[in-house]
Amino acid sequence: MKRIWKKSLDEINPYIPGKPIEEVKRELGLSDVVKLASNESPLPPSPKVIEAIKREAANVNRYPDGGGFYLKKAISGKLGLPAANIVLGNGSDEVLTTLLRTFIEPGDEIVIAKPTFLMYKISAAIEGAVVREVPMIDFKYDIDGMLKALGPRTKALIIANPDNPTGTYVNIGQLERIIEELSPDILLVLDEAYYEMARGGDYPESVDYFKKGMNNLVIARTFSKVYALAGLRAGYAIMDKDIAALYDKVRDPFNVNSIAQAAAIAALEDEAYMNKVLDIIRKGKERFYSFFENMGVEFINSRTNFVLVKIGADSSPFSKALLKKGVIVRDMSAWGLDGYIRVNAGTESENDKFCQAFEEALGERR
Ligand SMILES: Cc1ncc(COP(=O)(O)O)c(C=O)c1O
Repeated sequence: MKRIWKKSLDEINPYIPGKPIEEVKRELGLSDVVKLASNESPLPPSPKVIEAIKREAANVNRYPDGGGFYLKKAISGKLGLPAANIVLGNGSDEVLTTLLRTFIEPGDEIVIAKPTFLMYKISAAIEGAVVREVPMIDFKYDIDGMLKALGPRTKALIIANPDNPTGTYVNIGQLERIIEELSPDILLVLDEAYYEMARGGDYPESVDYFKKGMNNLVIARTFSKVYALAGLRAGYAIMDKDIAALYDKVRDPFNVNSIAQAAAIAALEDEAYMNKVLDIIRKGKERFYSFFENMGVEFINSRTNFVLVKIGADSSPFSKALLKKGVIVRDMSAWGLDGYIRVNAGTESENDKFCQAFEEALGERR
């Protein structure tokens, strides 16, 4: 075919997801494989959610509610905000992609950190944006650097709070500084995929700033993590109602399927189950911290369910060695972090298997 596709695609590397369990079983002939590579929930969805999924399955001859009335109502009730301030997406990935499609003209700029969630760069670059990446300092956000990188063509400052893959975060003081200095004509996008895990201490409750009238603030959240619905795809964002109206022009009319909507509503209602998931994550992470300390391995303190771990110069063969032992983690080379892996907390037995495989792989290397 003649070259008729978008020029912007030439510069883009596709997103590489964590390997699925079945693929690893098939390729390596293993029967027992654990996946700690995509920051998913350690538990399946709550029994109440599974019931809701079964109930809704009987209605899938119908199109979903394109406006997501009941899901928006459930979210707005929880947050104490009008439904007009909520938009929905097929995962928060789609929320962010749609937002960028809504705002970016070729040549516009976005400012992000490095390293951060890879989809910001990919989605913005597809729209022809210039992506200004501001290196973190000691794996923490460089607030000064990001503010300095803003320019007349900047459309959005996008911050994963907490960040993936570092697990570090922008605290209350830092957020207030950004809010003070940011032009009202630039969007501040806070991607809070790990919000429920990060809450407390000096982690900011961003919705309060929105309620105080910061209408260039967009807060994206997801049902993929503590609500255990990664496979169904449901995310949402809080934004000014005029921006939400623009977003709704751009999104697909039926972007969140009816099973995902029903499941997300049931998940929001089952707070006890979410707390159980949070508890398992907390214990798993504490276990990892003490394990890495005992092994003399460096890691970054994280406000999420995953930990960035320093392996040394050879993270790719190390990840492969873990894979052969039936443990899928994320090799961080694609993020430009050669020598690091990222592992998320799983169930107790999954964490056991990881720790054993890690110790063996380290021994084989030494
Ligand atoms: C920071 C961050 N944002 C967004 C996402 C995407 O989540 P979703 O499943 O809602 O698309 C992830 C997934 O890992 C993430 O780490």
